[in-house]
Amino acid sequence: MRNAVLAAMALVALSWATHESVAQEADAAAGERLFRQRCGACHQIATTRNCAGPHLQGMVGRAAGSIKGFNYSPALRDSGITWTADTLES
Ligand code: HEC
Repeated sequence: MRNAVLAAMALVALSWATHESVAQEADAAAGERLFRQRCGACHQIATTRNCAGPHLQGMVGRAAGSIKGFNYSPALRDSGITWTADTLES
């Protein structure tokens, strides 16, 4: 009896974990689609080519306005921001 309860609990935990990763995959796919629709016209992420906006490869952890060869506005170039999950959110 005790074993049956434990097995049921393990099953529940397992199915939760599976749901979680399916949701994360769906999120990543939705994010990629959103990026292409809303940002892809001006920003490259798969290559280091600058278009209307600077490419965004390796963006997290890098200083704002620091891509060589992109003509940033003084506001962004001199902002002193380093892009992290936090500074990108705000
Ligand atoms: C209409 C064109 C355009 C679109 C669309 C656009 N951006 Fe930009 N983005 C720019 C330009 C131009 C700059 C440089 C701004 C400056 O120099 O002040 C920039 C700068 C950035 C930067 C700072 C890069 C750096 O090197 O510091 C980030 C991050 C960024 N954009 C993210 C996004 C995201 C995410 C989206 C979609 C939600 C997006 N952008 C949509 C044109 C665009």
